[in-house]
Amino acid sequence: MKFSSLYYHNLTSYKRRGISPHFLDWENQPRIFKRYDGVDTIDLPRKVAVGDLTLFQILKERPGDLSNTQQTLDILSSILLLTCTITAQAMHSGTPFYFRNVASAGALYPFELYLLAEGVHGLASGLYHYAIDGPALHPLRQGISVSQTHSLNFFLSTIFFRSSWKYRDRAYRYCLLDTGHLLENLVLSLRGHGFSPQVTYDFDDSLINSFLGFDPDREVCLSVCCTDNKPDLCPALPSQEKWGTLPQRAMEASVVSVREVKYDAIATMHEASSVLKPGPYQGIKMDELLGVSEESLVEIPQVPAWPDELPYPQVVFSRRSRRNFVPRTMSQHHFDSILDGLCSDSLLTGYPWLTSIGLLVTNTEGYGSGFYLLDRRSRKLALVKEGNFQGEMARICLDQAWLANAALHVLFISNLKVLDEVMGPRGYRHTMLEAGRAGQLLYLTATSLGLGCCGIGAFYDQEAAHLLGLNDNSKLLYLVALGPVKSVKGH
Ligand SMILES: Cc1cc2nc3c(=O)[nH]c(=O)nc-3n(C[C@H](O)[C@H](O)[C@H](O)COP(=O)(O)O)c2cc1C
Repeated sequence: MKFSSLYYHNLTSYKRRGISPHFLDWENQPRIFKRYDGVDTIDLPRKVAVGDLTLFQILKERPGDLSNTQQTLDILSSILLLTCTITAQAMHSGTPFYFRNVASAGALYPFELYLLAEGVHGLASGLYHYAIDGPALHPLRQGISVSQTHSLNFFLSTIFFRSSWKYRDRAYRYCLLDTGHLLENLVLSLRGHGFSPQVTYDFDDSLINSFLGFDPDREVCLSVCCTDNKPDLCPALPSQEKWGTLPQRAMEASVVSVREVKYDAIATMHEASSVLKPGPYQGIKMDELLGVSEESLVEIPQVPAWPDELPYPQVVFSRRSRRNFVPRTMSQHHFDSILDGLCSDSLLTGYPWLTSIGLLVTNTEGYGSGFYLLDRRSRKLALVKEGNFQGEMARICLDQAWLANAALHVLFISNLKVLDEVMGPRGYRHTMLEAGRAGQLLYLTATSLGLGCCGIGAFYDQEAAHLLGLNDNSKLLYLVALGPVKSVKGH
């Protein structure tokens, strides 16, 4: 069978009473921090340099253009800390376990971050791995130059086995969603530091993977994010002889446990999606391709400010998944602020036309309970059907009953057949990474507003599509629940 987005998604669907038993091999648990044996570490200062900026300001105010300004190690460190850092610790069977400011399915953290830096004061130009547990940098290639001036190019990768250890063939979904979460933190952090980041998911896989020194059966690049304001979003790498040498055994750093299992569906899907089939896809109206009909449009108001906002660094560092939703009414101001965030430029500069956003609303001031579609480009909300679907969706989400109390379920939906036709299997990366990005923004928005939030990747796929009334080719990709919770620190 030829792998496509639709085929992979169907193949990895959960069916009630159809999930085969799987036991976690704790002896073989993947390492979640990448190790480069024998490689130096450059410790980074733990200072954040964005003052009391709010998330609202980052989303709403035009970011600057610092692409040609020399940066310092302090600024770089601040960018990285706000992107990904350890923010909580728990003890698991006597061993410390570290949580991060980025949400991740099962807290498995399959992603890694690399940086090609040029013109940073105090840092030799070159390729670095960001060691989250430092925070520190591992120098990988030195003296390499792409722009001859100042530039920061970030590469976001995933290590399949970290997630497939638990989720098996379905893990490719989580690798993409989780990396999207990391990417949104990076984009917001760069905007907060005055940059206009550009994101791409389209590049030559084998070139970039070998530049980054990966074992591509284990670790692959999924996204590139640049601060350069140039039409070609991916840095033009110099010819291979100018790459400088990698540390010896760099490829072995992609190994995360002694006995790794290769999941064929993941390998085959990723391979199928290595082909680039560029657009034109800007004209796609995904909402019209899901098989549902919309009525009664409501305009989403521009929100002049979000209520009781915490400063952005506090928001990023205190973000957590909260499941203690209470059936209290969500204010209209909160609801409008959430929608306003989803419609912000920061996300719309990506590939918003590939993924529809649905909303299951209940217990929300000013809006009747129902299933709605959000058209981000025209800032309109369309009612698809009335009713309170939270309880039924909670059952569909593997009986996670607490979801029934969440005032809002944000749904990411795509017609995967159309996606396959337009973009080939590569489109799956686009739509899932974009859903992950929006998911992270929702977490941060909720934290800002004193609401709870939790991403949900586990659901009976066919039942979800049936509840929503989607056609055969349209699928729920990801769900993020938000709403009033028992209590949130700081509010
Ligand atoms: C893609 C994705 C899927 C998730 N799915 C679920 C889920 O089905 N149920 C759940 O309770 N939490 C889910 N979570 C939340 C994670 O369990 C949580 O992010 C992780 O345990 C780390 O905790 P933290 O978010 O509090 O830092 C998901 C998170 C992500 C990013």
